[in-house]
Amino acid sequence: MSDPESGDAGNDSSAPTLAEAEAKILACESSEALKEVEREYVGKQGVVARLLASIPDAPPEERPEVGKQANILKKGVQQAIQARQQGLADARVATEREGQGFDPSLPPPRPQRGSLHPLTQVTRELEDLFQSMGYRILDGPEIETDYYNFEALNIPADHPARDSHDTFFCEGDGHLVLRTHTSPVQIRALENLEPPLRVVIPGKVFRHESTDASHDHTFHQMEGLVVDRDISVAHLIGAMKTLLRGIFDRDLEVRLRPGYFPFVEPGFELDARCPFCEEGCRVCKRTRWIELLPCGLVHPNVLRAGGVDPEEWGAFAFGLGLSRLVMLRHAIDDVRHLLGGDIRFLEQF
Ligand code: DAH
Repeated sequence: MSDPESGDAGNDSSAPTLAEAEAKILACESSEALKEVEREYVGKQGVVARLLASIPDAPPEERPEVGKQANILKKGVQQAIQARQQGLADARVATEREGQGFDPSLPPPRPQRGSLHPLTQVTRELEDLFQSMGYRILDGPEIETDYYNFEALNIPADHPARDSHDTFFCEGDGHLVLRTHTSPVQIRALENLEPPLRVVIPGKVFRHESTDASHDHTFHQMEGLVVDRDISVAHLIGAMKTLLRGIFDRDLEVRLRPGYFPFVEPGFELDARCPFCEEGCRVCKRTRWIELLPCGLVHPNVLRAGGVDPEEWGAFAFGLGLSRLVMLRHAIDDVRHLLGGDIRFLEQF
């Protein structure tokens, strides 16, 4: 008796071989079709059963071989069906995944990358700009003494200007405060550096006031101080125009309005032409001017407090609102977004 795979299953020469069975199994596209083939071969009335039933009719010397071949066919068919079942299941999972847009050949998603906070971006840009003009970048404490935050800046106790600086006082006798502006670092610069000097001081400041879209308890400023001989308002305006060109990438018309700050005399509010419109917009509140830069010539009392002789030296100073600048630049309508820490906001930069 020949091997069933060779095409001759015992004495019934028309009986299907294992090779034929395997081909049929491979062609099955569903488990129903597989069941059908299973029944045909290993079912109660199937090929294998008929082979076994033919044994008594076979010549005695062939009987063991017929039995053996029947078993080989049975095992082979069962194995082939199992393999095909697994194949069909795998294919089903693959199609489902494809439907969900899952493509295992794609590279994995990249890890999220952080970015610099818009305040950091503006601060660094301005630091570069000022450094290129020979300014030094300084830093100062965020917890200040009453002396540096007020007294030395020509704001003595009971001066009404203190009211406008809604102050966080530290526990104790009230002589430590969270600095309400970056101006106290002017005094520290005067004390520690020899004139002539040019410095800028970016940093965080704090105000004890109720918050709304344009007020936060914590925001950022950049203080500037230039001490030299014969400093005039013309120097101040020139420096401010250069600053604005650095920020907005073009020359903007400016105007000075009188502004009162105890540490400068004269003091100004410097406005710039709205960089966003020709005839009035939401940003400039239809005035075509944006209020950007309080500044002035440093008061002699302040120079004296810093140990600099006002007869010999002149100075100008300015206090740029960094938070406000970032809001202008990115059309942000609520200052509280800046330090709110909402990742959806920050991801935009
Ligand atoms: N320190 C002031 C404030 O926070 C801003 C300011 C005004 C700073 C005039 C200056 C200046 O240097 O000259 O309200």
